[in-house]
Amino acid sequence: MNEPVIIIGAGGHGKVVADIVCRSRDRVVGFLDDNPNCGSSFSGFPVLGTTAEFTRVPEASYIIAIGNARVRERLAAKIQGIKWYTAVHPSAVISETGTTVGEGTVIMANVVINPGTTIGRHCIINSGAVVEHDNVIEDFVHVSVGAKLAGSVHIGRRSWIGIGASVSNNVVICEDCMIGAGGVVVRDIEKPGTYAGVPVKRLEKEEENCLCKV
Ligand SMILES: CC(C)(COP(=O)(O)OP(=O)(O)OC[C@H]1O[C@@H](n2cnc3c(N)ncnc32)[C@H](O)[C@@H]1OP(=O)(O)O)[C@@H](O)C(=O)NCCC(=O)NCCS
Repeated sequence: MNEPVIIIGAGGHGKVVADIVCRSRDRVVGFLDDNPNCGSSFSGFPVLGTTAEFTRVPEASYIIAIGNARVRERLAAKIQGIKWYTAVHPSAVISETGTTVGEGTVIMANVVINPGTTIGRHCIINSGAVVEHDNVIEDFVHVSVGAKLAGSVHIGRRSWIGIGASVSNNVVICEDCMIGAGGVVVRDIEKPGTYAGVPVKRLEKEEENCLCKV
C-alpha cells in the first residue's frame, strides 16, 4: 500500500501498468523511457528520463512495461540492484494453492490463475487470460488478452501467446514462439518461430523474423 513505483516504458502497456499500480493503492512516481522525444509527462505522470541517465530512487520499486520480450530481458539484465514491482490487478483471481508469480510480472484485469502454476519473472498475463492448474510459464512470456492455457501447459522463455489463442492440456511450447491470434495449439512445439491457425501450423518465415525475436 502506497509503495512508490517507477515504470520503465511510457507507451500503451505502461499506461495500463500505471492504472494497475493506482488501483493497487500504490503510487506511480513516474516513467522512464529511452526515447529522448518522449516529452516530460505521460498519462498524467512525469517522465523522469532514460534508463541510462536516471538517478535511482532507493525506496522505489521498478517495473518494465514494454511488450517486446527481448527488450524486457535486456533491461532486466542491465538494471541491477533494484527491487522489481509485481503488478497484480485487484480483479485477478490467483490461487493461493501452490501458485507463484515471479518479480516484475504484470497480471491484468480478470485474469484467472489456478493451483500449482508457476509464473516466471517479467511476464505479462494480459486481461482476461486463463492459466489453468499446474502450468509452468517461463520468464518473459506474454499471454495475450483472452488467451486460455489448459492444465499442465509449459510455455518456454520469451514466447508470446496471441490474443484469444488456446493451448490444450499437457502441451509444451518451446522458447521464442509466437502463437497467432485465435490459434489453437494441440501438439508440442519444439522449434522457435511463428505459428497460426486452427490447429496452428508454422508460418513460412525465417526464424529471425519471429516477432518475439526483435
Ligand atoms: C501470427 C502473426 C504474428 C503473423 O503476423 P505476420 O508475421 O505479420 O504475418 P502476415 O500478416 O504477413 O500473415 C502471413 C500469413 O499468415 C496468415 N495469418 C496471420 N495471422 C494469422 C492468424 N492469427 N491466424 C491464421 N492465419 C494468420 C495470413 O493470413 C497470411 O496468410 P497468406 O500468406 O495465406 O496470405 C499475427 O498475424 C498475429 O496473429 N499476431 C497476434 C497479435 C496479438 O495477439 N496481439 C496481442 C496484443 S495483447
